[in-house]
Amino acid sequence: MSQEVANVAVLGSTGSIGRNTLEVIAGSHGTLRSIGLSAHARLDLLVEQAQELHPQWIVAACPRLAAAQDWSRLPVGTELLVGPEGVESLARRPEVQIVVAAIVGSAGLRGTWAALEAGKTVALANKETMVVAGPLVTQLAQKTQARIVPVDSEHSAVFQALQAGRREEVKRIILTASGGPFRNHTPEQLASVTIADALRHPTWTMGPKITIDSATMMNKALEIIEARWLFDLRADQIDVVVHPQSIVHSLVEFIDGSVIAQLGSPDMKLPIQYALTYPHRTEGVARPLDFTRTMRLDFEPPDPERFPALALGLEVARTGGTAGAVLNAANEGAVAAFLGGKLHFTDIVPSCRSVLENHHFDPAPSLAQLLELDVWARQEVLRWACLS
Ligand SMILES: NC(=O)c1ccc[n+]([C@@H]2O[C@H](COP(=O)([O-])OP(=O)(O)OC[C@H]3O[C@@H](n4cnc5c(N)ncnc54)[C@H](OP(=O)(O)O)[C@@H]3O)[C@@H](O)[C@H]2O)c1
Repeated sequence: MSQEVANVAVLGSTGSIGRNTLEVIAGSHGTLRSIGLSAHARLDLLVEQAQELHPQWIVAACPRLAAAQDWSRLPVGTELLVGPEGVESLARRPEVQIVVAAIVGSAGLRGTWAALEAGKTVALANKETMVVAGPLVTQLAQKTQARIVPVDSEHSAVFQALQAGRREEVKRIILTASGGPFRNHTPEQLASVTIADALRHPTWTMGPKITIDSATMMNKALEIIEARWLFDLRADQIDVVVHPQSIVHSLVEFIDGSVIAQLGSPDMKLPIQYALTYPHRTEGVARPLDFTRTMRLDFEPPDPERFPALALGLEVARTGGTAGAVLNAANEGAVAAFLGGKLHFTDIVPSCRSVLENHHFDPAPSLAQLLELDVWARQEVLRWACLS
């Protein structure tokens, strides 16, 4: 019996999600094929991936770095595209069925937008896209009948649990948070956190930006906003609970009081595979849970004082408009400043709040306006870092 093969473009194939995606594709018994890959700085790794997988296209997203790279080892039949336009062009190719949006930050928006305009299925890891432009992104997907399947483990869990009832029967969703490495830190301990401390996550292995976001819990704030737009919920229908084991990936509470959860080992290959095979399930490449061993599942409310990012996330989810784009860009700027040694760990969230409070709010912005604010908020947060 012949099996249909789905062609996948992996935007951000050199990153943590990208590499996990390639493992899922490798374990798919030929039902998934990586037809296009993209990278930014790790171009040697991109060339290695091309040599192994023989994709039809690869994209070097930064023209300056692309110009300095030796492309002589590219396999015959692999075409090189360059720049953000190259990413867009790959996402639109008629041969591509599924686009994995795994670029980090708002830089991921262009490729995701192009894929949605072309009516593709988008496996969405790049949560920043929804935070920046959630309402515009979901409107576009509706217009072109593109499908967005979440890859973020919490949103994948909610997406799966929602299938247990009707939308009008949903009372609220509860996003789980590992609490990051500083769950039990005192304010004094938080004040002296180093870059190396913040990059050490207790349960997940991820790229540097999301690892810092997990330590500040800004990652959960961004996920609240992502969930608000992705599932069309009100902000007051989204709660967060700390669950240090990262086994329950999120929960949906229905109006009768039933709570449906999705469980799995903390391995991104599981939600990636689900997004790539949806609406079907296939043999898993992730390690299954072992119920023959004693397992603890702890849940505790988050500490709003230790993690002020959560209140900020809820506020932005309630406000909408330009707030998401400003918070996201301010946070990207603040994380880069922290990683560059220019900002203290405990200044990341206050600097974002300050930039948010100083922006000209618009309740119904255009995409162009959001992109302008993205540039403005990054500059503002750097100004804040220099003045503080
Ligand atoms: N990692 C996780 O477990 C996880 C879980 C849930 C959601 N997510 C989300 O998934 C996305 C990717 O996270 P990650 O942890 O995989 O990040 P990562 O390891 O830092 O990888 C990011 C990818 O984006 C590429 N990239 C960086 N800047 C770019 C730019 N300006 N233009 C085009 N491409 C660019 C990188 O290329 P180079 O490496 O070549 O520079 C790399 O391929 C993020 O939005 C994150 O929030 C991640």
